[in-house]
Amino acid sequence: MSGLPRLVIVDDEPVILNLLTSVFEGEPYEVVACADGRTALSALEDGVDVLLTDKNLPDIGGLELLRHAKRLQPDAEGIIITGYASLDTVLAAMQLDAFDYIVKPPKDIFDVKRKVKQAFTKLQMGRENRRLMAELKVRNVELQDAYDELKEIQAELIQSEKLAGIGTLAAGIAHEISSPLFGVMGLAEAIVEEEDRELAREYAQEIVSYSRTIKEIVVQLSGYSRAASSEYDAPIQLSKVVDDAVKLVARSLAFDLDKVERAVPPELVVFAKSSELQQVFVNLCKNAVEAVVERHGELAEGRVQVAANSDGKHVHITVTDNGEGIEADKVAAIFDPFYTTKPPGRGTGLGLNIVYRIVTKHRGTIMVESESGQGTRFVLRFPAEAEPGVVDG
Ligand SMILES: Nc1ncnc2c1ncn2[C@@H]1O[C@H](COP(=O)(O)OP(=O)(O)O)[C@@H](O)[C@H]1O
Ligand SMILES: [Mg+2]
Repeated sequence: MSGLPRLVIVDDEPVILNLLTSVFEGEPYEVVACADGRTALSALEDGVDVLLTDKNLPDIGGLELLRHAKRLQPDAEGIIITGYASLDTVLAAMQLDAFDYIVKPPKDIFDVKRKVKQAFTKLQMGRENRRLMAELKVRNVELQDAYDELKEIQAELIQSEKLAGIGTLAAGIAHEISSPLFGVMGLAEAIVEEEDRELAREYAQEIVSYSRTIKEIVVQLSGYSRAASSEYDAPIQLSKVVDDAVKLVARSLAFDLDKVERAVPPELVVFAKSSELQQVFVNLCKNAVEAVVERHGELAEGRVQVAANSDGKHVHITVTDNGEGIEADKVAAIFDPFYTTKPPGRGTGLGLNIVYRIVTKHRGTIMVESESGQGTRFVLRFPAEAEPGVVDG
């Protein structure tokens, strides 16, 4: 084997065989000349790319040789030489997918050369195409893998932002837990010294109620830190998610819950993973409360409002605050990862970026309107219907 493309030439007339063979001298082909069908058959066994054969051979016909060649090498090309171009011959050759035919005796020997060259070109192009297709398939698989990995990383990112956020929530939470805990401890000591059984009973009841508060805080926090990966999209009651988020934020930032107005009709649902949806509202409310505290401090004027309604097609939600607002030239940056105006330890700059990712993942949109020194409003929109085929897992 020479590694060159292989041209098998078959003709039983020695003069023509010689002529045909000599034409390809110096060409980059491995040329094999055969004087009869049987010799050709064994030559084909050793490999064939283009078969140039006389149609009428005494032992095995040219068309039979072509059939054989295609069986051995499915993309092999055949050129049939025929004494006269009868319609029959041409049709039969075409049925066998012959590349071309040549009428004998060839008037222009360079025409033969050209046709053979075209056959090789076609063959090589076919092979190149198949090679490219195979490569494309490999690339596609690689791309799909990369995409899957990216999705996984995104889920991890969402989770780690949440955990980082909990760090900033935790200080407030610890404070929240410590006051009922002191209550519990004080009452427990009092019970030990209390002679009056009736009074001791009352203390015990108070202990139970303090303990409930602590339990509620712990449940909220652990519910929030749970990873969303095990969840499916499902119809989530919006008012409940907003309630939980607002309470968690108010509690952790020691913000008076009465200053947060909630106007979310109980029948509204959004199709999402509940913990991701909660993350959206925790982040938006946290920013709102922080902006309000920044502007008003402890004063009663500070206000946050979460409102929602549905027009049947979409659920619209607004989160509004009368906090410090955002300067006009900064608005475009707030969804960027790591953009923050807060000191280290208080802000990661990831909150709104994650909000954006979660909202768009659920086919929603989010917009912001803000006036520096006056306040900010985030406007969210989710489809009212589940994406076909997604829900019910
Ligand atoms: N409600 C808001 N009022 C004023 N500024 C806001 C509000 N929400 C977001 N911002 C601005 O956008 C920035 C990015 O917010 P975010 O992505 O949540 O990160 P972080 O809160 O950690 O800084 C904030 O630092 C703040 O400057
Ligand atoms: Mg934030």
